[in-house]
Amino acid sequence: MILKIVKYPEPVLQKPGEPVTEFNEELHRFVADMFETMYVSQGIGLAAQQVGVAKRVTVIDLSMGKDPAQKLVLVNPEIIEREGRQYEEEGCLSFPEIREKVVRAEKVRVRAQDENGKWFELDGDELLARAFQHEIDHLDGMLFIFRMSALKRDMVLRHIRKMQREGTW
Ligand code: NI
Repeated sequence: MILKIVKYPEPVLQKPGEPVTEFNEELHRFVADMFETMYVSQGIGLAAQQVGVAKRVTVIDLSMGKDPAQKLVLVNPEIIEREGRQYEEEGCLSFPEIREKVVRAEKVRVRAQDENGKWFELDGDELLARAFQHEIDHLDGMLFIFRMSALKRDMVLRHIRKMQREGTW
Protein backbone atom coordinates (compact mmCIF):
# COMPACT_ATOMS: atom_id res chain seq x y z
CA MET A 1 0.00 0.00 0.00
CA ILE A 2 1.32 3.43 -0.91
CA LEU A 3 1.32 5.73 2.09
CA LYS A 4 0.98 9.50 2.07
CA ILE A 5 4.26 11.35 2.52
CA VAL A 6 3.89 14.39 4.74
CA LYS A 7 5.68 17.62 3.96
CA TYR A 8 7.28 20.22 6.19
CA PRO A 9 5.94 21.81 8.43
CA GLU A 10 3.76 18.83 9.42
CA PRO A 11 4.43 18.56 13.23
CA VAL A 12 5.04 14.77 13.19
CA LEU A 13 8.27 15.42 11.26
CA GLN A 14 9.77 17.03 14.36
CA LYS A 15 8.54 14.41 16.78
CA PRO A 16 11.19 11.97 18.12
CA GLY A 17 10.22 8.38 17.30
CA GLU A 18 9.12 5.87 19.91
CA PRO A 19 11.33 2.75 20.04
CA VAL A 20 9.81 -0.31 18.36
CA THR A 21 9.18 -3.20 20.76
CA GLU A 22 6.92 -5.51 18.72
CA PHE A 23 8.43 -7.22 15.68
CA ASN A 24 5.17 -8.57 14.35
CA GLU A 25 3.19 -8.85 11.13
CA GLU A 26 2.00 -5.26 11.50
CA LEU A 27 5.62 -4.03 11.49
CA HIS A 28 6.45 -6.20 8.47
CA ARG A 29 3.49 -4.78 6.56
CA PHE A 30 4.49 -1.24 7.53
CA VAL A 31 8.07 -1.82 6.31
CA ALA A 32 6.78 -3.25 2.99
CA ASP A 33 4.51 -0.21 2.60
CA MET A 34 7.42 2.13 3.33
CA PHE A 35 9.53 0.52 0.58
CA GLU A 36 6.63 0.74 -1.87
CA THR A 37 6.04 4.40 -0.97
CA MET A 38 9.74 5.25 -1.26
CA TYR A 39 10.06 3.58 -4.67
CA VAL A 40 7.09 5.38 -6.25
CA SER A 41 8.55 8.63 -4.94
CA GLN A 42 12.03 7.73 -6.25
CA GLY A 43 13.70 8.24 -2.90
CA ILE A 44 16.70 6.42 -1.47
CA GLY A 45 15.54 6.66 2.15
CA LEU A 46 12.30 7.09 4.05
CA ALA A 47 11.65 7.46 7.77
CA ALA A 48 8.41 6.55 9.58
CA GLN A 49 7.77 10.20 10.55
CA GLN A 50 7.53 11.01 6.83
CA VAL A 51 4.44 8.83 6.56
CA GLY A 52 2.99 10.28 9.76
CA VAL A 53 4.22 7.66 12.26
CA ALA A 54 6.61 8.69 15.06
CA LYS A 55 8.41 5.36 15.44
CA ARG A 56 12.07 4.44 15.08
CA VAL A 57 11.83 2.70 11.68
CA THR A 58 13.56 3.68 8.46
CA VAL A 59 14.16 2.06 5.08
CA ILE A 60 17.06 2.80 2.73
CA ASP A 61 17.83 1.54 -0.77
CA LEU A 62 20.51 3.34 -2.75
CA SER A 63 19.57 1.25 -5.84
CA MET A 64 15.95 2.55 -5.71
CA GLY A 65 14.55 -0.95 -6.09
CA LYS A 66 16.98 -2.26 -8.71
CA ASP A 67 19.13 -4.41 -6.43
CA PRO A 68 17.40 -6.39 -3.64
CA ALA A 69 20.76 -6.76 -1.85
CA GLN A 70 20.75 -3.01 -1.16
CA LYS A 71 17.40 -2.97 0.67
CA LEU A 72 18.03 -1.94 4.27
CA VAL A 73 15.56 -1.88 7.14
CA LEU A 74 16.81 -0.12 10.26
CA VAL A 75 14.70 -0.45 13.40
CA ASN A 76 15.79 1.41 16.55
CA PRO A 77 19.06 2.44 14.83
CA GLU A 78 21.89 4.35 16.45
CA ILE A 79 25.10 5.76 15.06
CA ILE A 80 27.89 4.27 17.16
CA GLU A 81 30.93 5.61 15.27
CA ARG A 82 31.56 8.61 13.03
CA GLU A 83 34.65 9.56 11.11
CA GLY A 84 35.68 12.34 8.72
CA ARG A 85 33.57 15.00 7.07
CA GLN A 86 31.68 15.39 3.79
CA TYR A 87 29.73 18.35 2.44
CA GLU A 88 27.32 17.30 -0.30
CA GLU A 89 23.86 18.10 -1.57
CA GLU A 90 20.90 16.38 0.03
CA GLY A 91 17.21 16.25 -0.71
CA CYS A 92 14.29 14.98 1.32
CA LEU A 93 10.90 13.62 0.23
CA SER A 94 9.28 15.91 2.82
CA PHE A 95 10.91 18.92 1.09
CA PRO A 96 10.13 18.31 -2.59
CA GLU A 97 12.57 19.92 -5.02
CA ILE A 98 14.76 21.41 -2.32
CA ARG A 99 18.41 20.44 -2.47
CA GLU A 100 21.14 21.94 -0.33
CA LYS A 101 24.58 21.04 0.90
CA VAL A 102 24.77 19.67 4.42
CA VAL A 103 27.81 18.74 6.54
CA ARG A 104 27.88 15.07 7.54
CA ALA A 105 30.41 12.55 8.78
CA GLU A 106 32.18 10.78 5.87
CA LYS A 107 31.88 7.32 7.46
CA VAL A 108 29.56 5.97 10.10
CA ARG A 109 28.86 2.70 11.81
CA VAL A 110 25.23 1.99 12.64
CA ARG A 111 23.78 -0.47 15.12
CA ALA A 112 20.17 -1.42 14.49
CA GLN A 113 17.60 -4.19 14.60
CA ASP A 114 16.11 -5.79 11.50
CA GLU A 115 12.36 -6.24 11.07
CA ASN A 116 12.55 -9.45 13.14
CA GLY A 117 14.34 -7.78 16.03
CA LYS A 118 17.81 -9.14 15.31
CA TRP A 119 20.62 -6.68 16.12
CA PHE A 120 23.31 -6.00 13.52
CA GLU A 121 26.03 -3.46 12.76
CA LEU A 122 26.71 -1.89 9.40
CA ASP A 123 29.35 0.52 8.06
CA GLY A 124 28.60 3.11 5.44
CA ASP A 125 30.61 5.79 3.70
CA GLU A 126 29.86 8.57 1.20
CA LEU A 127 26.20 8.41 0.04
CA LEU A 128 25.26 5.52 2.33
CA ALA A 129 26.74 7.36 5.32
CA ARG A 130 24.67 10.42 4.38
CA ALA A 131 21.52 8.31 4.07
CA PHE A 132 22.14 6.77 7.52
CA GLN A 133 22.66 10.19 9.11
CA HIS A 134 19.74 11.86 7.29
CA GLU A 135 17.27 9.06 8.13
CA ILE A 136 18.38 8.57 11.73
CA ASP A 137 18.03 12.34 12.16
CA HIS A 138 14.39 11.97 11.01
CA LEU A 139 13.82 9.34 13.71
CA ASP A 140 15.05 11.90 16.26
CA GLY A 141 12.68 14.53 14.84
CA MET A 142 15.63 16.37 13.28
CA LEU A 143 15.31 17.77 9.74
CA PHE A 144 18.08 18.52 7.27
CA ILE A 145 17.17 22.22 7.12
CA PHE A 146 18.40 22.47 10.72
CA ARG A 147 21.79 21.09 9.62
CA MET A 148 22.19 23.93 7.08
CA SER A 149 23.67 27.33 7.79
CA ALA A 150 21.12 29.81 9.14
CA LEU A 151 21.41 31.78 5.90
CA LYS A 152 20.56 28.80 3.70
CA ARG A 153 17.80 27.67 6.03
CA ASP A 154 16.17 31.13 5.86
CA MET A 155 16.36 31.03 2.07
CA VAL A 156 14.74 27.59 1.98
CA LEU A 157 12.01 28.60 4.44
CA ARG A 158 11.25 31.78 2.45
CA HIS A 159 11.02 29.69 -0.70
CA ILE A 160 8.62 27.25 1.00
CA ARG A 161 6.42 30.10 2.28
CA LYS A 162 6.26 31.56 -1.21
CA MET A 163 5.23 28.17 -2.66
CA GLN A 164 2.63 27.79 0.13
CA ARG A 165 1.13 31.18 -0.86
CA GLU A 166 1.06 30.12 -4.49
CA GLY A 167 -0.51 26.79 -3.56
CA THR A 168 2.38 24.80 -5.05
CA TRP A 169 3.72 23.27 -1.81
NI1 NI B 1 14.38 13.18 4.55
